[in-house]
Amino acid sequence: MFASSTQGVPEVQSVPRHIAIIMDGNGRWAKKRLLPRVAGHKRGLDAVRDTVKHCIDLGVGYLTLFAFSTENWRRPADEVNFLMELFFVALEREVERLHQSNIRLRVIGSRDRFSAAICQRIDAAEAKTAGNSGLVLTIAADYGGRWDVLQAVNRLHASGVTDIDEASLAANLSMAYAPEPDLFIRTGGEQRISNFLLWQLAYSELYFTDLLWPDFGKDALDVALASFRSRERRFGRTSEQLPQAHRRG
Ligand code: IPE
Ligand code: IPE
Ligand code: MG
Repeated sequence: MFASSTQGVPEVQSVPRHIAIIMDGNGRWAKKRLLPRVAGHKRGLDAVRDTVKHCIDLGVGYLTLFAFSTENWRRPADEVNFLMELFFVALEREVERLHQSNIRLRVIGSRDRFSAAICQRIDAAEAKTAGNSGLVLTIAADYGGRWDVLQAVNRLHASGVTDIDEASLAANLSMAYAPEPDLFIRTGGEQRISNFLLWQLAYSELYFTDLLWPDFGKDALDVALASFRSRERRFGRTSEQLPQAHRRG
């Protein structure tokens, strides 16, 4: 188990152990170029590759990408179908590259609404990379923070636990294998959580950029990391209580 930001004080490091990203702005990127929205989703995959590579170079341990929310099913059927197809193809096409890079792939979210074919590919990709010891890349697909908390509570309930505490709840969240994100990034200019990791973002540093996701990459990540390093992470304490090296200003 990793240190909880509310039950203890996590270790503060200059490189985040865990970065969680809402990859937003694909549709607007395409619209600006008079292209169909789906062209933006396609280009978004290039930004994913760049970001993954840079995280490995930096020594980030966990990268979590929000790819499809529980509310994204509300989009027009054509767009949803395209996103499903893109996910299906990417799972097949990218997995060898991920494996070569020693990446462990994990997919979190409800599988109830995915086709059997997509579920099989998710299982195969996770199984193929399960023994890898490098970056843990989590794709949140059909994921919602509320869904996650509820499935954890229901799991505890089903196993007869009545006295739920923070530790037991956290241990049943779908990303119990990762520390809480140190840094949350949202591209696309909106400043909201949109039902991403509600529980785990309790003490994450939040970073918002107007860049649209397909325009995000190595340099943009470096800017986000510079902002991260400038933050004073107090976890409820006063500045004076922090080790000198962690004080800012
Ligand atoms: C994010 O880009 C990708 C998904 C939600 C799947 P959007 O498709 O939300 O792009 P905008 O926000 O409409 O520009
Ligand atoms: C959040 O983006 C979800 C993903 C990037 C997968 P949205 O575009 O769906 O968020 P809202 O609707 O603007 O809040
Ligand atoms: Mg959006």
